[in-house]
Amino acid sequence: MKRKSHNQLIKITKTMSDRIHTLSGYFHEYQKSVTQPEEFWARIADSFHWKKRWDKVLDWNFEEPDVKWFVNAKLNITENILERHLYTIGDRPAIIWEPNDPNEEGRTLTYKELYKEVCKFSNVLQEKGIKKGDRVIIYMPMIPEAAIAMLACARIGAVHSVVFAGFSSSSLADRIEDCKAKAVLTSDGNFRGSKKIAVKAVVDEALEKATVDTVIVYQRTHQEVSMKSGRDFWWHELVEGVSEQHEAVETDSEDMLFILYTSGSTGKPKGVVHTVGGYMVYTKYSFENVFQYTPGDVYWCTADVGWITGHSYIVYGPLLAGATTLMFEGVPTFPDAGRFWSVVEKHQVNQFYTAPTAIRALQAHGTEPIEPYDLSSLKVLGSVGEPINEEAWNWYHTHVGKSRCPIVDTWWQTETGGILVSPIAGITPTKPAYATLPLPGIQLCIVDAEGNELKGNSVEGNLCVKFPWPSMIRTTYGDHERCKQTYFSTYKGMYFTGDGVKRDHDGYYRILGRVDDVINVSGHRMGTAEVENAINEHPLVVESAVVGYPHEVKGQGIYAYVICDMKNRTEENLTNEIKDTVSKIIGPIAKPDKIQIVSGLPKTRSGKIMRRILRKVAEGTVDNLGDTSTLLDPEVVQEIIEGRQ
Ligand code: WTA
Repeated sequence: MKRKSHNQLIKITKTMSDRIHTLSGYFHEYQKSVTQPEEFWARIADSFHWKKRWDKVLDWNFEEPDVKWFVNAKLNITENILERHLYTIGDRPAIIWEPNDPNEEGRTLTYKELYKEVCKFSNVLQEKGIKKGDRVIIYMPMIPEAAIAMLACARIGAVHSVVFAGFSSSSLADRIEDCKAKAVLTSDGNFRGSKKIAVKAVVDEALEKATVDTVIVYQRTHQEVSMKSGRDFWWHELVEGVSEQHEAVETDSEDMLFILYTSGSTGKPKGVVHTVGGYMVYTKYSFENVFQYTPGDVYWCTADVGWITGHSYIVYGPLLAGATTLMFEGVPTFPDAGRFWSVVEKHQVNQFYTAPTAIRALQAHGTEPIEPYDLSSLKVLGSVGEPINEEAWNWYHTHVGKSRCPIVDTWWQTETGGILVSPIAGITPTKPAYATLPLPGIQLCIVDAEGNELKGNSVEGNLCVKFPWPSMIRTTYGDHERCKQTYFSTYKGMYFTGDGVKRDHDGYYRILGRVDDVINVSGHRMGTAEVENAINEHPLVVESAVVGYPHEVKGQGIYAYVICDMKNRTEENLTNEIKDTVSKIIGPIAKPDKIQIVSGLPKTRSGKIMRRILRKVAEGTVDNLGDTSTLLDPEVVQEIIEGRQ
């Protein structure tokens, strides 16, 4: 083994000291992070490689908002993933890839191999004229090349925007146009369960509406695709013979790292912007502490790289920490409901991080699919994306964790960049369905509808954060005002999360779900307005209103009330057509679970739809509808109740 340089040794020692080991250690760190935030984060940031150190740790105001971390520092985030690990853990697996089909051979990339692949692809991107600041769309399946593509963008200072490969061509086109992307990185197809899904064909359709200079296609399924000459290139041809060396481009701490589109209460999805320095520091710090990752462990997060969880806790956080991160291409139920557990056994997974919807779906299959597998490697279980109900928590704890693995219920958002509220695995005592306590640096605040802070314990209200943290949203791409209005205007001087929360008698936080018009379907965020707009695209639809309702597996389902001109259609025909329309416009994940054809909607005299009533009917709690006297047409309520699906 090569001798470590003095500096490297200092850095490794420092990294270890950033770890929380005891509950009193947590409280101590938390206290320091609140009383001396700049000193606290400077200490954490010191363990990274900066090309130039910051002049100031933090500059901020929540009015604009304008937040800068590690002001004027220069760095490249991929040097902190690649070069920083080359001579110490270069032969350690960085990415273990498990394919959709268990009979296909998987792949492992060590840090050294990952370094080479990222360097090669960085050279390819630069040869195609992509420069610092350019936007690049990544529309790819769960294969190592998706991570390589993200890192290569980051290495040349380009801004990636990953679009979940289940989104429709029109969603993809909207995103390409919104960020004025120069290139799309994609694949021919995608294996998911027993299906082979066309991917490049979706890109082709999107590029009838939006334009880019370059498309690079990774060959995954070998299905036939059309290639437009001069625009479309094969990944494997471009990387052939390309240098395995690449000098990382210097970026500023506040340069954009990526844009990730997410749904809100109104309008089209917005591009949440994250910047390099703060995101790097926070994702690594939170990853190591929450999961208590120790070198040599195999960590597996089942999310897709198309979501923030995939960005922060499959790619950036783990790789910055020098961890081994497992990437899974498939689905939990293929070839059978034991797949997750077979992967855990096969790769001896130590930390397993998934969503409540997956747990509930597997719970429905009983414990039989778990029994054949040895899950004794597991040390920590994680949950993310939506509130986890106590029943699912207990099932996960008993049957997967065999009552010996702590569960980290991690609350956070696309906008927060990293986990803000979570137990520290094995250290913070857990309580089913509670995300427990804020991580160091996170100053939470519960407010009532008027914005008054609710102090003390046993309170319930809206969740806000009153002090910046390094990985927070900086802006919404191309529309800063929208960022200000959505997150910083509801309550003055605070970041508003959109979530309701309870702080119990122990000071523990329990997230109650969204208080705005966002629905959380299987952990995926959906704006009601977005789904309504898609439904309204059907030529026979006059008007629609969409609400969420409790769904046993998905957490929330989508319930649509639709006024339409029936023409000669049967209700069944029409509802199927409407579902197809939504699928085509947004993607299959936004398909309404229930559609009720109605003759009118409950509106106030000023024309506002009373969603409260629609939500109650969808939930089935019709005996307590509250005051309906202000409605323009109270009769419509009875009709809606009677036609409930
Ligand atoms: C919800 C996902 C309860 C919440 C990382 C939030 C949760 C939204 C939890 C963000 C949790 C996420 N408990 N609710 N542990 N984690 N949520 O942007 O409503 O896809 O506002 O980020 O998911 O979803 P997003």
